[in-house]
Amino acid sequence: MKKIIIAIDGYSGCGKSTTAKAVAKKLGYTYLDSGSMYRAVTLYFLKNGINTAIAEEVVVGLNTMEISFRMDPSDGSQQVYLNGVNVEEEIRGMEVSARVSEISKLPEVRSALVKKQRELGKEKGIVMDGRDIGTVVFPHAELKVFMKANTEIRALRRQRELADKGQQISLEKVKDNLESRDALDSGRKLSPLKKAADAVELDTSYLQFDEQVSRILQLAKERM
Ligand code: C5P
Repeated sequence: MKKIIIAIDGYSGCGKSTTAKAVAKKLGYTYLDSGSMYRAVTLYFLKNGINTAIAEEVVVGLNTMEISFRMDPSDGSQQVYLNGVNVEEEIRGMEVSARVSEISKLPEVRSALVKKQRELGKEKGIVMDGRDIGTVVFPHAELKVFMKANTEIRALRRQRELADKGQQISLEKVKDNLESRDALDSGRKLSPLKKAADAVELDTSYLQFDEQVSRILQLAKERM
């Protein structure tokens, strides 16, 4: 069986990462959450007071940070490191969520991260999720999936995830953040969130998690 690239794009909070992670595990593939890279850049820029209106400052910021991924040996989960420090929890908080779409539209940020994502996928055998994976990062991916789900359901799921991590956020606030990120991500000039012409659409509103995973696995096997 040949190794393929699986690109999973879609709206915020419709379960792309958990689904992509499970698919990768079943196939013995590498999993990469591209959103975590945009989140790590956002955290770094916020912490270091980078003025994103000045392109030179953005470039210096990007050149002084290093994003890496390491496995947590206790549960096998992927952890994001910023200049050697584990920032997995911090990048998932509302502070970063509120600013990430603004920072991810910067051309310098996108080109640096897309380059890194392509390098990580060059051996294939990877499942990558994000917003522009099937359209820009890997336009020749063998399988492209575009996920969407009803906004109320997405907000409820995300609120539960945050609560599990100890952050109690109102449903309204979570919903507003998802909607504003979707609008910014879909409306930006550079690599907007959109379904690739050859992507398979998957509405996860009323799908069980296992069903989502097995549908993608089936599609993947047809392409191997
Ligand atoms: O996937 P996640 O919701 O963690 O992504 C956070 C943000 O990162 C998105 O709202 C979007 O602004 C940005 N992003 C992006 N391109 C990607 C992945 C994420 O612009 N491939």
